[in-house]
Amino acid sequence: LFAGETTFVKGVVAMDGLPPADRMEICFAGRSNVGKSSLINALTGRKGLARASNTPGRTQEINYFTAGDIYVVDLPGYGFANAPVAVVEKWQRLLKNYLSGRPTLRRVFVLIDARHGAKAVDEEIMSLLDRSAVTFQVIMTKVDKLRGDALEASLAKTRAALAKHPAAFPELILTSSEKGDGIPTLRAIIAGIS
Ligand code: GTP
Ligand code: MG
Repeated sequence: LFAGETTFVKGVVAMDGLPPADRMEICFAGRSNVGKSSLINALTGRKGLARASNTPGRTQEINYFTAGDIYVVDLPGYGFANAPVAVVEKWQRLLKNYLSGRPTLRRVFVLIDARHGAKAVDEEIMSLLDRSAVTFQVIMTKVDKLRGDALEASLAKTRAALAKHPAAFPELILTSSEKGDGIPTLRAIIAGIS
């Protein structure tokens, strides 16, 4: 699906800039710094494809990539406040309009940092997806940063939170973009969406 055939299409800053909805797409959503861009790079095996950085708020546009015959979308992080209020509000509005109003969006991957678990802002996005009947699946990121028992506790908590969301897949995906955990699994899951 991803090998050698991923290209950047465009960065979008407003709903009317979205490419024509002529093929299926998946997207990666989550708080700033959770590891969305790094995960896309790990999936594609191309380090610099999606710009990743330690500075929260790195991704500031809805970035479209083609992978085979689907769109893969890297979103700006939500919950990032270190910018003028008007700018933050514009991003949040765009994000919500996109997540609830894109007809070809087949699955949203909601990324949650394994160390932090689901925060209020994650709950808000998951509820928006419930209301919009957009299927989503949670990916736990940075699992390399946790030991086994701490990871288990975090997973149990997240599973319990997910049970309340009708649009959620119950199955969590555990990943480390750094170490490669879960990347083949995620590739297979994406390949199975059609
Ligand atoms: P925004 O674009 O700001 O919303 O952030 P993002 O969600 O795209 O995060 P990004 O991929 O830029 O990663 C943020 C930081 O986390 C970077 O310093 C990455 O190197 C680090 N990081 C991402 N994934 C992992 C991981 O699996 N393990 C570890 N240890 N660090 C990671
Ligand atoms: Mg990013």
